[in-house]
Amino acid sequence: MSAPLLSVRGLTAFYGDFQALFGVDLDLARGGCVAIIGANGAGKTTLMRTICGIARAGQGEILLDGAPIHGLPAPEVLRRGVAMVPEGRKLFPSLSVEENLQIGAHERRGNGAWTLETIYDLFPVLRERRRNPGTALSGGQQQMVAIGRALMSNPEVLLCDEISLGLAPVVIRDIYAAVPRIREAGTAILVVEQDIGQALKIADHVHCMMEGRVTLSGRPSELSREAIHDAYFGVTHDLA
Ligand SMILES: Nc1ncnc2c1ncn2[C@@H]1O[C@H](COP(=O)(O)OP(=O)(O)O)[C@@H](O)[C@H]1O
Ligand SMILES: [Mg+2]
Repeated sequence: MSAPLLSVRGLTAFYGDFQALFGVDLDLARGGCVAIIGANGAGKTTLMRTICGIARAGQGEILLDGAPIHGLPAPEVLRRGVAMVPEGRKLFPSLSVEENLQIGAHERRGNGAWTLETIYDLFPVLRERRRNPGTALSGGQQQMVAIGRALMSNPEVLLCDEISLGLAPVVIRDIYAAVPRIREAGTAILVVEQDIGQALKIADHVHCMMEGRVTLSGRPSELSREAIHDAYFGVTHDLA
């Protein structure tokens, strides 16, 4: 097996005295998709923010293609090829769809697959709405812009934090339909998802977090509903 594209080892994170991550490990293959599930407060967002350099670095190792990126400032991590779709989308409301997308091209890396045209092919409704301000869009369309904006940097790794939050099932389906196409273009995806069924559907590997730790990991086919439930809610079985 080839070395993982992104490798996280023993990662810790703190907010002041409060420890939010306790030795998290994960691997993401080139073009792969890994999902992180877990209840509110489990540390999912902190993990993403630490990987992309927004949250302060604690201990541990983050390797991108074998090179350490842990502790680098966020713009440098983006230049190296890790782009984040933040929780809550965070578009510029006064700018048009196209202007929001172009902001993502600011740290553009090389001549990768992603351009305005390929993003409009991925989400055709954005082409129709390209002159509209961000505020004139539905929640699902705003999420598409947030994903497209991150893709405009031509990342190796796309971090998606709760992209289905607050969206209707039919809209969630449209958004997740883009995941295989993003992977085909060679971009690996790390997705935080509260919807366990959705996570199992799209990911090669799923990690469940609780209170800053990974409590269960496996391929979707290896994970039973019971094991996930227990890891999610913190029930432990005595295996002795
Ligand atoms: N900016 C912050 N300052 C202090 N504590 C925080 C901050 N952000 C998150 N936390 C705490 O860190 C823990 C993990 O939060 P978070 O990573 O947002 O979890 P999740 O994304 O899984 O809901 C929670 O206990 C949360 O209250
Ligand atoms: Mg979160």
